[in-house]
Amino acid sequence: MVSYKELGLVNTREMFAKAIKGGYAIPAFNFNNMEQLQAIIKAAAETKSPVILQVSKGARNYANQTLLRYMAQGAVEYAKELGWEKPQIVLHLDHGDSFELCKSCVDFGFSSVMIDASALPYEENIALTKKVVEYAHQFDVTVEAELGVLAGVEDEVSSAVSHYTKPEEVVDFATRTGCDSLAISIGTSHGAYKFTPEQCTRDPKTGKLVPPPLAFDVLDAIMEQLPGFPIVLHGSSSVPQEYVDIINHFGGKLPDAVGIPEEQLRKASESAVCKINIDSDSRLAFTAAVRKVLAEKPGEFDPRKYCGVARDYMEDLYKHKIIDVLGSDGKA
Ligand code: G3H
Ligand code: 13P
Ligand code: ZN
Repeated sequence: MVSYKELGLVNTREMFAKAIKGGYAIPAFNFNNMEQLQAIIKAAAETKSPVILQVSKGARNYANQTLLRYMAQGAVEYAKELGWEKPQIVLHLDHGDSFELCKSCVDFGFSSVMIDASALPYEENIALTKKVVEYAHQFDVTVEAELGVLAGVEDEVSSAVSHYTKPEEVVDFATRTGCDSLAISIGTSHGAYKFTPEQCTRDPKTGKLVPPPLAFDVLDAIMEQLPGFPIVLHGSSSVPQEYVDIINHFGGKLPDAVGIPEEQLRKASESAVCKINIDSDSRLAFTAAVRKVLAEKPGEFDPRKYCGVARDYMEDLYKHKIIDVLGSDGKA
């Protein structure tokens, strides 16, 4: 058993309370490799933003959970080296799908876990979430749960109104499970194709797709039911057109990729939404950099030359999210 406290990590409790009070959101960035982690930590240290490092199922399969945890431990020390005296860094399990997995992360030094039982029937979601909460809270590890289903990786069927979180369920769910934060479904979804062209309108000037707005009425109704309770948004990448254009220009094929407009995420950040999950945008930044460097310098074969540029792109992206979208700069 390793306590995250020994590793210099923190849980989300105080972080979320401050974020709700202050009208900003904490960035939750997924990481799978060293360059991504370096970029996240540099961006957070330079902007003095609290940050959540997320480990997904894909990341565990790709990079190994043990290695990722040691990397996060190293990240705390790296942050201090960069001059961040008291780094506010959470190590979080993203989309945990079983009690055993959540337990293994709690036992191994994660400071926060998500149990995503949102695909299960309501009562089963409550039972599993409660079990994880009871275990995690013994070690002061915070737990994120989910109610409602997002389109994309969680649901083969494209997003429909019936999958939104039902505001009438949230009090019962939060009370009975004891979860510390709640991921909700209000129209965001995972990946770089959040909406089909049919769900969007076209901007007559640019010809670009304009996605439908998030269901802020559902968010408002949830906040009315659970005043001051920490709310989480998954699937919050914005799919920056500049990266899509670079990728497509240098041989990629990402037609009609579309994300959540940043103004809407900024608006959400000012509410009880205090954790915003971003993964796909970092993938796009990385891929754009690698495609560009390799296309412009076909003789390049030192991975540091293109992964280094990818790291710079990601660092700029993370800083932009922190400062211009979530408003978490200067809060740590
Ligand atoms: O929730 C989805 C995240 O973007 C992680 O995806 O399991 O492919 O790493 P992944
Ligand atoms: P994006 O695919 O929109 O980046 O969402 C990431 C996410 O929700 C991770 O849990
Ligand atoms: Zn997610």
